[in-house]
Amino acid sequence: MPPSEENLHAGAKGAWSGRFAEPVDERVKRYTASVSFDRRLAEFDIMGSLAHARMLAAAKLLSHEDLAAIERGMAEIGAEIASGRFEWSLDAEDVHLNIERRLTALVGDAGKRLHTARSRNDQVATDVRLFLRAAIDDIAALVRKLQRALVELADRHAATVMPGFTHLQVAQPVTFGHHLLAYYEMFDRDVARLADCRRRVNRLPLGAAALAGTSFPIDRDRVARELGFEGVCANSLDAVSDRDFAIEFAAAASIVMVHLSRLSEELILWMNPRFGFVRLPDRYTTGSSIMPQKKNPDVPELARGKTGRVVGHLMALVTLMKAQPLAYNKDNQEDKEPLFDTVDTLVDTLAIFAEMVAGIEVDADAMRAATQEGFATATDLADYLVKRGMPFRDAHETVARAVRAAEERGVDLAALPLADLQGFSSLVGEDVFAVLTPEGSAASRTSFGGTAPEAVRAAVRRARETLGSA
Ligand code: ARG
Repeated sequence: MPPSEENLHAGAKGAWSGRFAEPVDERVKRYTASVSFDRRLAEFDIMGSLAHARMLAAAKLLSHEDLAAIERGMAEIGAEIASGRFEWSLDAEDVHLNIERRLTALVGDAGKRLHTARSRNDQVATDVRLFLRAAIDDIAALVRKLQRALVELADRHAATVMPGFTHLQVAQPVTFGHHLLAYYEMFDRDVARLADCRRRVNRLPLGAAALAGTSFPIDRDRVARELGFEGVCANSLDAVSDRDFAIEFAAAASIVMVHLSRLSEELILWMNPRFGFVRLPDRYTTGSSIMPQKKNPDVPELARGKTGRVVGHLMALVTLMKAQPLAYNKDNQEDKEPLFDTVDTLVDTLAIFAEMVAGIEVDADAMRAATQEGFATATDLADYLVKRGMPFRDAHETVARAVRAAEERGVDLAALPLADLQGFSSLVGEDVFAVLTPEGSAASRTSFGGTAPEAVRAAVRRARETLGSA
């Protein structure tokens, strides 16, 4: 029995059952098998095996005839899997042994030589890293697509005013374009986080063998080069047991989902008729089976809900690693389902959001009307007084009194007569009304990163440069 296979006990007919007195219990077989889900790694398993075999041949650890047989067999297996003809067997436990068993059936002894200087422990770690690297690239491209949709919508609404909120209370007027670009920034950090995580994902564990390295004169750098890894894992014990890269990915993925969930919450609020700020294309909403008038924001609601699921996967992975002694432990087999589901959830949610955001229809009148409630320009009046010499704290107090008077009359600040405003401070002139409109308020906030239409357009230009789609 090869040392790397100490856990393998494939039942009465199994190749390694010599050491065991009875076949493995049926339920235990199902309990320990991973083939039902890790078969998803097949493409990467084959890729890794081919690189390993080529290295073995180059190092004269495998004959060129054997290498040719392995390449031929793997091509056949790849075709069988792609066409659905491949017979996955629970007896062979996982994706690695299923493929190896089939290879041996197809090409004989060459198939049995493939596992020289390798263990499933370094093999599975390699497969997961290859899978995740590809997933990160897909996800980053989808985040970019969503960012593009946000930027285009922001450009169209660079001057559309709406209330900005703090504590979900009307605070100050902002432009809708500015609000959208806040999400652009969040997703920009997400792309950077994924790229950073990718560097640590992209290292080769193969060559660590079961845990201690190997006595064969292997060339790990060659395998790393062929598989596009940026380097090799430098300690064999760490290489087979490290799943930090998966935890990091799940953390980055959770943050992406948190951002999508925040956007979802806002879309749900904005779609509510009390707000009435936006409409989503009908293909992203659903009706009610009982209330004929309803149009429900199911997609954002589900995205909000699925955020819990992805954060849950992060917790699963982090808890999986806690208290594991070195080196490989079977616990790690539990990393796959959370990872796969995290990837699938992100890919679907991002792809849908990119299209949905591009289709958002805006009710600019409803947004503007909402700025008229809640004295959104009170800070502008205070700033106006400050610019005329009043200390800010006094201006704050003066405007508070003006707001109270307006509230008693049930009108906005801009609807108070000039004489009344001057009653609160003699510094008020006729030009005050320019800052009391939401457009005037927003237009004045030209500081870098501010909400003024010209600042938003500048931000759109910067974003387009980053996205490479000017
Ligand atoms: N199916 C296993 C996993 O996913 C592969 C590695 C198993 N190694 C072992 N010695 N049992 O982790």
